[in-house]
Amino acid sequence: MQVSERGVSQWGTAWGQFLDHSFGLRVGGGEAVEVPFVNGAPMEDFHSDIPVVPFGRSAASPGSGVTTPRQQGNELNSYLDAEAVYGHVPDRLAWMRDGAKLFMPDDLLPRRDARGDVATAPEADDPIGMGARAVVTGDDRGNENVSLTAVQTLFAREQNRIVGLLPTWLPEEQRFQLARKVVIATQQYITYTEFLPALGVRLAPYRGYDPAVDATLSNEFATVGYRAHSMLRGNVVVRTEKSRYAPAQLDALRAKGARIAESGSTVEITIPPALGAFRPELVGEVQLGPLLQGLGGQAQSRNDEQVDDVVRSLALTRAGCEPNCQTAIFDIAAIDVERGRDHGIPAYNDLRAAYGLAPRTSFKAVTGEATEAFPVDPELTPGAEIDDPDSIDFVAPGVRRTTVAARLKALYGDVVGLDAFVGMGAEPHVPGTEFGELQLAIWKKQFEAMRDGDRFFYAGDPVLTMLRQRFGVDYRHDLGDLIALNTDVPRRDLARSVFRVS
Ligand code: HEM
Repeated sequence: MQVSERGVSQWGTAWGQFLDHSFGLRVGGGEAVEVPFVNGAPMEDFHSDIPVVPFGRSAASPGSGVTTPRQQGNELNSYLDAEAVYGHVPDRLAWMRDGAKLFMPDDLLPRRDARGDVATAPEADDPIGMGARAVVTGDDRGNENVSLTAVQTLFAREQNRIVGLLPTWLPEEQRFQLARKVVIATQQYITYTEFLPALGVRLAPYRGYDPAVDATLSNEFATVGYRAHSMLRGNVVVRTEKSRYAPAQLDALRAKGARIAESGSTVEITIPPALGAFRPELVGEVQLGPLLQGLGGQAQSRNDEQVDDVVRSLALTRAGCEPNCQTAIFDIAAIDVERGRDHGIPAYNDLRAAYGLAPRTSFKAVTGEATEAFPVDPELTPGAEIDDPDSIDFVAPGVRRTTVAARLKALYGDVVGLDAFVGMGAEPHVPGTEFGELQLAIWKKQFEAMRDGDRFFYAGDPVLTMLRQRFGVDYRHDLGDLIALNTDVPRRDLARSVFRVS
């Protein structure tokens, strides 16, 4: 695995996923079409107790898929409106609210049993059986990994912080809605002024709300372009003052599987992927400030054709399954390719054409490499190079034994059938960005549409100016400011932009 060549920190991933959960959630419920999984396959290190990667098709949108092409729906509303924080269902928000604030016992997100009855608590996506220890966030995927739960906690605290700045003579409902407006503006502000520039996405200048622009999330963005799962890097590393934790707390973290290294007054807590998944309690145990600070300390993975085992071969077992636990392999890369086919996404070159890009007629033209032939190499089995684990060994820094083009050719034969998701990840990066040409074009188009087609976009919203002038409440915080304002980590201990490793 290689890391971002421009030093984008793990915040690129954490923010990216948080945004996704504000604007995209396909409507599920279609038939099962599992992806076969072969134990002992030469390129696979993991074992599955079931012979498939579970996969369910997205539902066909009503009226489609019989005489017209099958279409898919989005459960969310496509706008950048912090839906991950507030949800899109009134009952869910009602449960989460505590007057003008969000309900946060001990300044953390509420567990599902926090109001007594788990049966009436909002649902949480829970493939492993967290039950009552799952926390409630606006989007039901908020427990999926510890970084995401931490960002959700940060934004819930920001709602409550803003409410505290508004005058108490304003009616409670107004304070809630005004604070929510500020939080949404902050999410947009950080996205457009910090996150997208850090990844090298440059948009056309903003010219105000355009009613002719449709902000709806495109299928190409949700199913191909924004699935930036390659940026994920397994471990989260927190480096902070040892005095924050009692020895028993560090022992407890160690017992759960965290790696703890103590040196003088400093402690380094490494949260491996298997520990970070569906463990919302880690936010309190490791503490929010150091966790968020830690995301800025390591570069994320390079966005390329490789996907970290954290989301490719993570074995998930359900709690309480002993003694007959079954391990299923959850391979997001396989799921992403299959999802493209499920949604009828055009092949790589057809998608390029749809974004006004010229076709790439050979695999080496796709990847920008010199050859699409396997080398003659004593380490490789002639004729079976694609199944030889040595084919992806590094033979020099950043250089693997075989080219991506050779491996793609061995798999696909012809560029015509190349899956868009695979071809996109194999393209060389446009200088100054984290993306190849196709992915960059998909991001640019969608983020411009989400901005220009949003009547309440922060840069054109007079209420935000009024809030600043009358009450001194300002949405214009970069992410480092936001962390410092809502945790005990001082601003000086964070990089100027936390999206870049300092
Ligand atoms: C630990 C981090 C992450 C995990 C475990 C994860 C996991 C998943 C899973 C399981 C799905 C459903 C796949 C399917 O059935 O089609 C999904 C969908 C998706 N993910 Fe991620 N993801 C992560 C991070 C990210 C990041 C960083 C981004 C983007 C920058 C992203 C973008 C998306 C998008 C766009 C979808 C499709 C959403 C929809 O329309 O339903 N994810 N992810």
